[in-house]
Amino acid sequence: MKATAIAPANIAFIKYWGKKDEELRLPTNGSISMNLSNLLTTTTVEFSSRYKKDEILINNKIDEKENKRVENFLDKVRQMAKSNLRAKVVSENNFPKSGGLASSASGFAALTVAATASIGLNLSKEELSILARIGSGSACRSIPHGFVEWFEGNDSQSSFAQSIHPADYWNILDIIVIFQKGDKKITSTDGQKLVKTSLFFKERLNNIKNKIENIKELIKQKDFINFGELVEKEALELHAIMLTSDPPILYLQPKSIEIIQAVWQWRSEGLSVYFTIDAGPNIHLICQEKDQKQLVDKLQKIKGIKYIVNSPTVGTRLTKKYLF
Ligand code: PMV
Repeated sequence: MKATAIAPANIAFIKYWGKKDEELRLPTNGSISMNLSNLLTTTTVEFSSRYKKDEILINNKIDEKENKRVENFLDKVRQMAKSNLRAKVVSENNFPKSGGLASSASGFAALTVAATASIGLNLSKEELSILARIGSGSACRSIPHGFVEWFEGNDSQSSFAQSIHPADYWNILDIIVIFQKGDKKITSTDGQKLVKTSLFFKERLNNIKNKIENIKELIKQKDFINFGELVEKEALELHAIMLTSDPPILYLQPKSIEIIQAVWQWRSEGLSVYFTIDAGPNIHLICQEKDQKQLVDKLQKIKGIKYIVNSPTVGTRLTKKYLF
């Protein structure tokens, strides 16, 4: 049977960076995120005896490294369903593949839901989140709706993501400022392997549980200013860990710094906007919906950038539209 799923990418306010189990992708700490309405992956999967081997087409391309990762994931699904059927997979992003845009999160979330439906596995939301996590850590957060918490857990069964609020709970936006296209040089999988070499990592873990509790409370209260301050500090802490890894990782580019400084300038002029940054140079601007126009007017004056406006959205869902 053919099945198609649509999955959103997500932006983490408290980040996942470091694994305590590489293979199972068990994180060293929990994380908190929001699903993004305009960064979507659509994936159609069909398991059938007609296919002699897995046929995988992602964004109209055959990329050997990426396809291998998808095949390994399909093996896991076959193992769970006790099946040896091969599959055809066609997947498309509605956004450019570019540094830190979380294509693996939406990609593996969509693949999880489409593949399990196609092979006839009936999994709970928790089980889907666990399976997506094994494909790509942050993908587990794209399964549930809206604002999401990923529990660190102490084994595979206890490390999954759950919704903490629905998408319409709080009308904040993530306006992603994009200026770099193409692949990043160090993937997040490789970057995370270095985390323990940073002197600051232990200190980060000492504080992370408090931080998670704080951010959850600020989201609950819809306290935008304190929320924004904490989100921004967290992003800078993540990049401090990256910079002090051995060898160091520098994802930021001159344009990233230009945008960060612009954010601080705009804030000093009274515009309530904060930033966060993932494993890439592009900058995510977090603001309230009421300030969208003012912020977009400012972005339109900056040369060499594009931007994508995202509101919080639902998690991964099945649809009747098929890509083949
Ligand atoms: O899921 P991965 O391996 O792409 O790692 C994601 C890491 C960050 O985006 C930097 C942080 C996060 O929590 O999303």
